Amino acid sequence: MPWRISPQDRALGVRPDPYRVWLSEVMLQQTTVAAVRDYFHRFTARWPTVRDLAATDDADVMAEWAGLGYYARARNLLKCARAVSTLHDGRFPTTRDGLLALPGIGSYTAAAIAAIAFDQPATVVDGNVERVMSRLFRVEKPLPAAKPALSALAASLTPPLRPGDHAQAVMDLGATICTPRKPACSLCPWSDPCAARAEGVQDTLPRKTPKPEKPTRHGTLWLGHRDGDWLVETRPEKGLLGGMLGFPGDGWDGAGGPAPADAAWQPIGEVRHTFTHFHLVLTLHSAPLHSAPFRGHWARPKPTDLPTVMRKALMLASAALSPR
Ligand code: ADE
Repeated sequence: MPWRISPQDRALGVRPDPYRVWLSEVMLQQTTVAAVRDYFHRFTARWPTVRDLAATDDADVMAEWAGLGYYARARNLLKCARAVSTLHDGRFPTTRDGLLALPGIGSYTAAAIAAIAFDQPATVVDGNVERVMSRLFRVEKPLPAAKPALSALAASLTPPLRPGDHAQAVMDLGATICTPRKPACSLCPWSDPCAARAEGVQDTLPRKTPKPEKPTRHGTLWLGHRDGDWLVETRPEKGLLGGMLGFPGDGWDGAGGPAPADAAWQPIGEVRHTFTHFHLVLTLHSAPLHSAPFRGHWARPKPTDLPTVMRKALMLASAALSPR
């Protein structure tokens, strides 16, 4: 992982860059290492320091984040970079409490940066660590109720020496060996003390209280075009896909809302996308626009400038437009 320091460098006294640790931890929330790697390289090539990032326009950062999802993270990323730049002279606070006071840094991220970048004995608990603890100590109480108990167990194992390496080792163990299905117990350095393994119940842990099923919501997007440009708008800061570029829609909450221009709108198909709390089905309408639109602006967005659901809409509309 490109934000890590090798054991050799570490022995020579090289420390991880807190900016890179912070950026990687924010990107990795709700997202896999494989999905994050290219984004991490692009961000650090374009903005090598937290001051560089802080000085950037919101729209540039949102466009670079497009496709990673959970866009509130990107808005908070910029707020945090600006706070570190202006309030802390471009240096991240070194303690968990100092980090917690920054925008967008919650207890997980604060602990991760304190441990990994600053060698503080903070306990880092993500889903991987919860799974490892539930098995190692055979915790039968289901998630999410078991979270505090699992955190306390993880804290009981946090060493004073190299707590950051310990935290990352437990996360790696959960990601590669103590996996949700078919854990590779024969490879596990903790298989001897593992209470779940002793009873052969590792596959059943952690138990989970079933989540309510996601509802399906419906809505409309209008894809107006003119001379190869599309009518787009920057979405409001608050709410789903906040601050991201998208096609005008009707709010997809049953609220309705008028089309962004008078035109001969034609239905061209549907796109589906699943968010954290609901499935979304959007009906797309397309039209050449000859009159001035009531909202939005003209642009020629690349698919990679758009959040995934809007990418799907652009692909479908472009295909519908191109001559067969
Ligand atoms: N998941 C989130 N942050 C991580 C890290 N630093 N190491 C391994 N897995 C992670």
